[in-house]
Amino acid sequence: MTADINGSFIHDPNLEVLIDHDTIQKRVRELGAEITRDYRDKRLHVIGVLKGACVFLSDLLREIDLPVSLDFIGTSSYGESTKSSGEVRITKDLDISPAGRDILLVEDIVDTGLTLNYLINMLKSRDVSSLAIVALLDKPDRHEIEVGASYIGFAIPNRFVVGYGLDVGELYRNLPFIAVPKDPAQLARR
Ligand code: IMP
Ligand code: MG
Repeated sequence: MTADINGSFIHDPNLEVLIDHDTIQKRVRELGAEITRDYRDKRLHVIGVLKGACVFLSDLLREIDLPVSLDFIGTSSYGESTKSSGEVRITKDLDISPAGRDILLVEDIVDTGLTLNYLINMLKSRDVSSLAIVALLDKPDRHEIEVGASYIGFAIPNRFVVGYGLDVGELYRNLPFIAVPKDPAQLARR
């Protein structure tokens, strides 16, 4: 395990900061204000997509000035590698029926769009009243399917990123910023 001269996991020299903490927080506040305006006359039901959205979701929720109910769905598409398998697996189903609710689905990133497309179809078949998507990150160059997210934090280039919920081999979700590993294989080996 390598670390910088201070032995810090977070300040690993193999990590190049792409979006710093303050920039993320400012954008999350803007998204929260926008969602608050848009859902003033609705009953907002938030569904977080586990596990990647957990950090973004917990910050975003506190910027929404409305009564909000909350549920989670678990998906897995990457396994332990950095390449999408294109297969979506539900690892945890919803606890609360989404029928008749105004749903905001919270995702970490739109990459190929396959995960969100699967979830959108699944939710629509369960008679939701309305459905919108918020994703912290979007990689427009990677889309295989257009899911039409209503709210996007940042569009980013086609690079593999970690931090603020996103992992490589289940690590680095706890970084308070978004970073590009200079050598992803090195991180994955930890
Ligand atoms: P998609 O189905 O290809 O749009 O992506 C599904 C999931 O892959 C996302 O929710 C993330 O958990 C993961 N993912 C996509 N791109 C990245 C990345 O750059 N870093 C880490 N995880 C990613
Ligand atoms: Mg992941």
